[in-house]
Amino acid sequence: MATAADHHHRHRSHRNIPLPFPCSSSPLLFLSLLSLASLILAFSLFKTSTEAPPLSPHHQTNFDFKKASDALCDYSDGKWIFDPTAGSDRYDQTCKEIFKGWNCIGSNKSNALDIVKWRWKPRHCDLPRFDPLRFLQRYRDTNIGFIGDSLNRNMFVSLFCTLKRVSGEVRKWRPSGADRGYTFLQHNLTIAYHRTNLLARYGRWSVSSTGGVLESLGYKEGYRVDVDIPEGTWAEALSFHDVLIFNTGHWWWAPSKFNPVKSPMLFFEKGLPVMPPIPPAVGLDMVLKHMTSFVERRMKPTAILFFRTQSPRHFEGGDWDQGGSCQRIHPLSPQEVGKLFSVDNNGTNVETRLVNQHLYKALDSSVFNVLDITRMSEFRADAHPSTAGGKKHDDCMHWCLPGVTDTWNDLFVAHLDNIQGRN
Ligand SMILES: *[C@@H]1O[C@H](CO)[C@@H](O)[C@H](O)[C@H]1NC(C)=O
Ligand SMILES: *[C@@H]1O[C@H](CO)[C@@H](O)[C@H](O)[C@H]1NC(C)=O
Ligand SMILES: *[C@@H]1O[C@H](CO)[C@@H](O)[C@H](O)[C@H]1NC(C)=O
Repeated sequence: MATAADHHHRHRSHRNIPLPFPCSSSPLLFLSLLSLASLILAFSLFKTSTEAPPLSPHHQTNFDFKKASDALCDYSDGKWIFDPTAGSDRYDQTCKEIFKGWNCIGSNKSNALDIVKWRWKPRHCDLPRFDPLRFLQRYRDTNIGFIGDSLNRNMFVSLFCTLKRVSGEVRKWRPSGADRGYTFLQHNLTIAYHRTNLLARYGRWSVSSTGGVLESLGYKEGYRVDVDIPEGTWAEALSFHDVLIFNTGHWWWAPSKFNPVKSPMLFFEKGLPVMPPIPPAVGLDMVLKHMTSFVERRMKPTAILFFRTQSPRHFEGGDWDQGGSCQRIHPLSPQEVGKLFSVDNNGTNVETRLVNQHLYKALDSSVFNVLDITRMSEFRADAHPSTAGGKKHDDCMHWCLPGVTDTWNDLFVAHLDNIQGRN
């Protein structure tokens, strides 16, 4: 099992290729499928074009090719192979837990049935599909918690549907503040999803009559983020779960809620405003530091911790609120991935790798196992709901189910088995 440190040098450098599509002029991040649907038509003809950066004589040098010597296999290094026999019997569109907007088969997305016909093949090993029945037997009397944003819910639903297919008797309930959860009764295995966007607690803040240091700096309203206080939806869950899978990332580069001018993130530590005020990227570092140490202090002594890396978005031709779309029906080539996600290119979806830089920095010295799903998912521009689900704008952030998050769960189970095998 590779630890955070092993993964640190995992990223490949990419050739700095000029962007063929307009570069967004805004760092806006797609947050809510519902909030700005009405604006999309107005924006759909609005595109900015930015001159592509010149080819750099130097490749990015901060990442190298160091291979972790104790890693069994680098599951993130591989390619998607078309395999018509793969996939479709894991579960289908009738699984009730699938959120409507993610049910691409049910919504007749043109390539919905092909999405699961691509199989991830790591270069130096295989990533087998996990066997749900064996999983239920092996992890009898175990509680598994997904803690994070809607992308972690997407992964939770994938696991639920896969298990439900082989073991139908479930109790639906909400353990320890969970948004949703199920116990598979025959095996007493519980899985739950705890909703939290930032991991840390946050809420609306506005200027008070008594005044204060933020007021004196001219802030009128925003969101107070307590970097050292976990959100209530999961704080108690650590004494319940035996296996935990965390994520955060999508809300940090997201001024549609946390607009840097109208409703900025205002960070607090020990109940006081952090002075001078810090940008979200620095706030993310503080939150990760506090939250990982909180988890390490409060977890069950035998708990197994995972942190999932950032899930890539695939907006092309603009960001989510600028008519960006994801109409591809095949995975990207390695070259296309390089163009779309290179940090040097600073394209629409650049936050994918930026978030990961923060995660790796925070997790390096922690006991968390890194679940690196980024690289494999970067190829899958074909696997988002896009316009399926009846929205006026494209969802190029969440994943169709069944789909890519099924492979994330294969990876999760492979890692978990490795860890259990060691103990
Ligand atoms: C990246 O692009 C965004 C939006 O186009 C811009 O605001 C930001 O300054 C750029 N960052 C860098 C490092 O060039
Ligand atoms: C999908 O196609 C089927 C069969 O043509 C149709 O009955 C159904 O209404 C369609 N669903 C949506 C959401 O368009
Ligand atoms: C189910 O598993 C939990 C541990 O997760 C255990 O405390 C409980 O006793 C088990 N229930 C039964 C009926 O075995």
